[in-house]
Amino acid sequence: MRDPIFPHCHLLGIEGLSPLEINRLLDLSDPYVAQNRGSDKASKNLKGRTVVNLFFENSTRTRTSFELAALRLGANVINMQIGSSSVSKGETLIDTAVTLNAMHPDVLVVRHPQSGAVKLLSEKVNCAVVNGGDGSHEHPTQALLDALTIRRRRNKIEGLKVAICGDVAHSRVARSNFYLLLTLGAEVRVIAPRTLIPSELDRLGVQTYTDMREGLRDCDIVMMLRVQNERMTGSFIPSVREYFRFFGLDREKLALAKPDALIMHPGPMNRGVEIDSDVADDFERSVIREQVELGVAVRMAILELLANNLSAKRVDSDGEE
Ligand code: CP
Repeated sequence: MRDPIFPHCHLLGIEGLSPLEINRLLDLSDPYVAQNRGSDKASKNLKGRTVVNLFFENSTRTRTSFELAALRLGANVINMQIGSSSVSKGETLIDTAVTLNAMHPDVLVVRHPQSGAVKLLSEKVNCAVVNGGDGSHEHPTQALLDALTIRRRRNKIEGLKVAICGDVAHSRVARSNFYLLLTLGAEVRVIAPRTLIPSELDRLGVQTYTDMREGLRDCDIVMMLRVQNERMTGSFIPSVREYFRFFGLDREKLALAKPDALIMHPGPMNRGVEIDSDVADDFERSVIREQVELGVAVRMAILELLANNLSAKRVDSDGEE
């Protein structure tokens, strides 16, 4: 039977998910945190299933944690090496996906530099698809692990003041977090230079600040974003030195947030650009490592849920299983 609350076979983004659906994903992730902290991390919940990681962009956290998540659930995992695949001979994304799909994987986890590429791919295959980050569009599992981290630390998300600071214009992490945090009732602020604030934010109901000292005032959560030089085609920031002075998180600016405000960063960090090592490594306040840890739990829950929904769908549609 498909999950009654989250019956979908793909996770392509957070946009459009209901509070009930988001909370379902967080609730399913929670028990895996304890399991991953124990000595026996293995289960057989996905025994016999196959997960393929198809990453057209570099990744440390997302790719490794999906692999670990699948292994801990007893699934078989294939990590496609894009550089040595037939993509280098000119094979398209869709042809690659259709080829892999012919080998009957259960879940494809896909990261791609083009916004919308993962959704397009999901329409061409009959396995479950998870978006591991598409261009500057969405990175849904990052927002879910961020939410799980906040919820476990603060026991709620509704009513919290969350500042998302930095290169919002190019950030799929920010976009997925806007949808998730606003859906669950948080107050979301964006703090960035004017050149890095996208115009769509007014429509979403996000408050924008170009003065970090003003924007951080009274915040419960300070989420820093990486300056994404690889996605910048023009001159968005004057210099690294200027950027850090006005928009880098250091001890002095952090003092304007609540005294117990949590520091978050999706990683990888540019130390000395958007965040000072002094605050990044302050383990009283910084939950950056915990975000990585909880990423495995969230990805275990998602792989299991989607694979089971897919099995139920196949039974419903043609009695295949
Ligand atoms: N946060 C994140 O997506 O990190 P990776 O690029 O290392 O996967």
